[in-house]
Amino acid sequence: MRNLLSIEAMTQADMEKIVAASGPMKRERGHHQRQPLAGKSWALIFCKSSTRTRVSFEVGIRELGGQVLFLNPNDIQLGRGEPIKDTARVLGRMIHGAVIRTFAQADVEDFARFSAIPTINALTDDEHPCQILTDIFTFEEKRGPIRGKVVTFVGDGANNMTNSWIFAAAKLGFEFRVAAPKGYQPSPDILTRAGGKIVVTDDVKAAATGTDLLYTDVWVSMGQEAQSVERVQKMTGYQINQSLVKLAKPDALVMHCLPAYRGKEIDEATFEANAQTIFDQAENRLHVQKAILNWIVS
Ligand code: CP
Ligand code: NVA
Repeated sequence: MRNLLSIEAMTQADMEKIVAASGPMKRERGHHQRQPLAGKSWALIFCKSSTRTRVSFEVGIRELGGQVLFLNPNDIQLGRGEPIKDTARVLGRMIHGAVIRTFAQADVEDFARFSAIPTINALTDDEHPCQILTDIFTFEEKRGPIRGKVVTFVGDGANNMTNSWIFAAAKLGFEFRVAAPKGYQPSPDILTRAGGKIVVTDDVKAAATGTDLLYTDVWVSMGQEAQSVERVQKMTGYQINQSLVKLAKPDALVMHCLPAYRGKEIDEATFEANAQTIFDQAENRLHVQKAILNWIVS
């Protein structure tokens, strides 16, 4: 039985398999030959807000023949303190797979262990693996293999997105540069666990120079709202804007996992100039996650 709990735990071969299967999923939308989730019920348990991940999983599960239950933790006993391992053992006897967005990575891992059904991490404080697989697919769809390329992340260098990028870089053989202020740079532990070619700097211009992909994410992730003022103060300047784009390769892509906060991690003009790429990226969540679902049940 398979799970998708983190990029760290994935093999290079499985990542490549999912990315390779995403193109056919996209092209065959509306006329899939197979319905790998036919007769199966999947639950979505989301302890944090979501637009893209929730809708793409709900639609994707249905398009592969499955039924979906969206479970708001405040409506189930989980929200009143029932342990995750008990919730997992109950749901494991009733449903066939789960997609979970929550805070602690350990909760997704415990759910997978105790439920014994395929479990997908739809974002934790530590990782966002479905987003990263989509980002790699989107890059390769537009620019060819990511191996040997340079990806520059600007902003909060110590969040779930940067962690997943760091693990992906080592496995797929691209250089990953993180431009972030001190205090918001990747933890030495993550860098040691990942290996690979990772450059960490507070020099945003140096990190952007000659890059193939400029990438950013919110400065304040879900659950960090109490630190908003300090984070915005410290990260001011770590923004993708028109002058930074000029330092990248002429055909560099600008991507954002969304939601975007204009005037913070990206400016309005740069966001709108790259909206085609950014919304292709958002759409691709659907196709890549269908490839993930197909992989996980096969
Ligand atoms: N990028 C992303 O995961 O978006 P949502 O929070 O809307 O799901
Ligand atoms: N780092 C962000 C990603 C949102 C998709 C967060 O966790 O809120």
